[in-house]
Formats: sequence, C-alpha cells, structure tokens
Amino acid sequence: MKLFYCSDFDQMSKKAASVVASQVITKPDSILGLATGSSPLGIYRELIERYNRGEMSFKNVTTVNLDEYCGLSPDTPQSYHYFMHRNFFDYVDICHDNIHIPNGLNEDARAETARYDALLNKLGGIDLQLLGIGIDGHIGFNEPSDYFPKGTIHIELDESTIEMNSRFFQSIDEVPRYAYSMGCREIIDAKQIIFIASGKSKAEIIEKAFFGDITPKVPASLLQIVSDKVLAFCDRDALSVVIENHPEAVIGL
Ligand code: F6R
Repeated sequence: MKLFYCSDFDQMSKKAASVVASQVITKPDSILGLATGSSPLGIYRELIERYNRGEMSFKNVTTVNLDEYCGLSPDTPQSYHYFMHRNFFDYVDICHDNIHIPNGLNEDARAETARYDALLNKLGGIDLQLLGIGIDGHIGFNEPSDYFPKGTIHIELDESTIEMNSRFFQSIDEVPRYAYSMGCREIIDAKQIIFIASGKSKAEIIEKAFFGDITPKVPASLLQIVSDKVLAFCDRDALSVVIENHPEAVIGL
C-alpha cells in the first residue's frame, strides 16, 4: 500500500483528484466506484473545476456508488442519490444512464441486492474505486462483523455509524437504520483503490486497518491483502497515530 502524507484536506483532495483525473483522461470509458460522505467532497469539487477548465470529460464514464440508505427517496437531501447529484453529477457531462446507485426505496432486499450484483457483474469490474473509512473501520457500509461480505448487502447500521452520520440529519432518530452496500470483496476487486481519510477521528482506526490484524472486525483491514493496488491519501490528523508508530511507512512526510 502506498500511504501518502497530505498536509490538509485540500492537499488530500487535490492529490486524490489527480489520480481520478488521470484515470478518466487515459481511459475515457472508465468505470468509477464512488463514495459519499465528507471525505470525497473536495475531490468532487476539484474534478468539477478540471471539467470546467475543459481538461476532462465524463461523457463516457460509468459510475457505481458504494451504498445508499434504505427508505430515503432520491430527492431527500440526506440520500446518497441527492448527495451525488448536488456535489458532482449535476455539474459535469456524465450521461445519466451511466449513473448507478443502490435503490434505497426497494423494500425487497433480496431483489435489490441481486439487481446490484447483476449490474456489477455486467459492468465487468471497477477501474478505480474511491473509498473512505468509518471510525469503526467500515468501508462502504460493511460494518464490523464475523465475516467479509461478498456481494451486495442489506445491512443494519452500527450505533457508532448512526451517531456519526446524524450530523447530516435534524435528529439522530431520522437516520435510517438500514442501508444497501457493495460487499467488501467487490470493493477490493477494483483494479485500483483510492483511499482517503481526514481528521483526528480516523487516526486510530487507520492504524488498526493498515497495520493491525486482517479481520472482519475492522473491514478496512481487508485492504492489506490488495495493498499493491491501494493508494491512500490521508491528512496529517488522520495519519497522526501512524506517524507516531510507523513513520517509515508514510510517503512524503
Ligand atoms: C459513503 C461510505 C462510507 C464513508 C465513511 C466515511 O459512501 O461508503 O463508508 O466513506 O462513513 O464517511 P466520511 O467521509 O463522512 O467520514
């Protein structure tokens, strides 16, 4: 795994966006795996700027998002559909038929997970996956568990995730309890993974994920087995524990 030191959120976003941009410029029909949350916001802003400067186009790109809350309609501001449109898709020339996000309104979990699996299968593999991490070590919404899920999952969210994500809702009671998520195995099957993390709250879990045991109790630890295709861009705060204990592992310190 290449673990790059970034001085702050802005530098993290710019460096990670450069990799995404190179991917799209060199392969215009790339399949991008996308994430929501606070971490990728700067990357989306940077990509929009590059698009506005005429440096790149998303016309032939296909996107598959990692996850979506169950029970939220696409026009609910907290839904990941809404997030992606408001923070990225509405500002670039992506073809709307090429945008894929789990359907949180499908109450038939078996049908929805099978639909997303079939879609991923048909696309034939993600070229580049953008990935954040939860403070409990989740990737997508693969929460700590006894096994690494394969295939799209319908998952009950952990209390820590609900609490953390309640900052986007009026109250914690409004946070959906369930979500759909791409499974861990599909995430690590991507040809390249851009991992991003910012802020002190991620510092301990990043050390566990990258230097601790590979265990489904820390879903992100699975990245260790595909370390050759992971580029991790983390800011100083997110790297603080790693810098203390494994400074030699950090590039650009
Ligand atoms: C979002 C996702 C989540 C987030 C994680 C970190 O699509 O898959 O795993 O990446 O919860 O969220 P932020 O970036 O808000 O700290």
